[in-house]
Amino acid sequence: MDKFIINGGIPLKGSVKVSGAKNSALALMPAVLLNSGENIIENVPEVNDIFTMMKLLKQLGVEAEFNNHKLILDSSNITSQVAPYEHVKKMRASVYVLGPLLAKYGSAKVSMPGGCAWGPRPIDLHLKAMEKMGASIELEGGYIIAKSKKLSGARINFDISSVGATGNALMAAVLAKGESIITNAAAEPEITQLAQFLISMGAKIEGIGSNILEIEGVDELDNASVINIPDRIEAGTIMIAAAMTKGKIELENANSKHLNLVIQKLEDSGAKVLLNNQIISIDASNLEPLNVDVTTAIYPGFPTDMQAQWTAYMSIVEGSSTITDTIYLDRFKHIPELIRLGADIEILRNSAIVKGVKTLKGATVMSTDLRASASLVLAGLVAKGTTEVLRIYHIDRGYQRIEEKLKKLGADIKRVKTEEF
Ligand code: EPU
Repeated sequence: MDKFIINGGIPLKGSVKVSGAKNSALALMPAVLLNSGENIIENVPEVNDIFTMMKLLKQLGVEAEFNNHKLILDSSNITSQVAPYEHVKKMRASVYVLGPLLAKYGSAKVSMPGGCAWGPRPIDLHLKAMEKMGASIELEGGYIIAKSKKLSGARINFDISSVGATGNALMAAVLAKGESIITNAAAEPEITQLAQFLISMGAKIEGIGSNILEIEGVDELDNASVINIPDRIEAGTIMIAAAMTKGKIELENANSKHLNLVIQKLEDSGAKVLLNNQIISIDASNLEPLNVDVTTAIYPGFPTDMQAQWTAYMSIVEGSSTITDTIYLDRFKHIPELIRLGADIEILRNSAIVKGVKTLKGATVMSTDLRASASLVLAGLVAKGTTEVLRIYHIDRGYQRIEEKLKKLGADIKRVKTEEF
């Protein structure tokens, strides 16, 4: 198992390239199950969740090759419709194979994902959408057994906006018979990208980017190619690192449109942000940061995946800030660890009440999930002395070698092996 050793206090300076988006690639990859041919996805990050999805697709019969951020997925020879527990337990996004398998092959057996580090994270909306399209769903031995002769188009209204359920319903609807309308659909950039990929396969989808998607099912889909979008959460995390360390950096290959609210909040805190095509520059060299409250919301709101990082930022800003998560009400596993570094934070229902301290002090802390570990790395970059972040396999799920990017910006961070379990 690896850990990070960070010596804090160095302002970040320089330029780094943002990797492709993990969450977008995780939706694009299972979409290849909808056709029978060779598909190419470029700008895919080399992170563990992508390797897990590759293993799962291979298990279903997809031939997969991954080189230099380019994924070639050949779905000509699907041999199984079973997504086993060993993959799904590692990564909830494995549930994305449900819609495509059911739509194309008439059956899917997918392990129930169970809870995750910060709460239950149900998949009821995914299952209801499949039922609406005519599938029978049974739960047996921890597995979802879904069957349908041919899915039929349906009106699907989601009570809660869900990225995963929208992606799954969309992938099922493109091969269903007749028209489907998905209302209260997620409009996150990852869903827009998925819809565009499906269209390049021959799917008929209208309303892309809005909360109402209209789909006219087609009989079959062709193979296709796509260039994956940049990772907005990685970009946002590094921008916060620059603000916290009073640095001055440039992010290349970024899409600022996907980060509007994060950029606005950074500006509200006093950082200077400049946008120029695919480059985001952030100058915090003379920053005396102000406290800024955030409340997470569905896109284009402030992403829940940036909540922990913003909390780390506000922990060193004088005054009091309130950070509220409305998407996951108990996504606060990072708080006790930030407190170990000297932060003053209280959890009140689904809010973190942060009272800024002058300095954080290095300590040993433990990652509990992907974004929580990102917030601990950020805190380590400004803490006085040495911070050790344990169990960084969590951060490796979604950030491609984050320490290399931070090192390139001048941070004193290294990855070392540890005996710790
Ligand atoms: N929800 C339900 N029932 C469902 C599905 C979702 O009640 O069937 C609820 C969830 O409990 C949550 C809300 O709906 O309160 C939104 O969850 P959503 O379904 O949108 O989340 P997801 O699709 O499982 C994706 C990202 C997450 C990100 C969320 C929210 C992927 C692979 N994962 O998850 O990313 O936090 O959207 O934006 O795209 C991460 O990258 O660290 C991460 C957790």
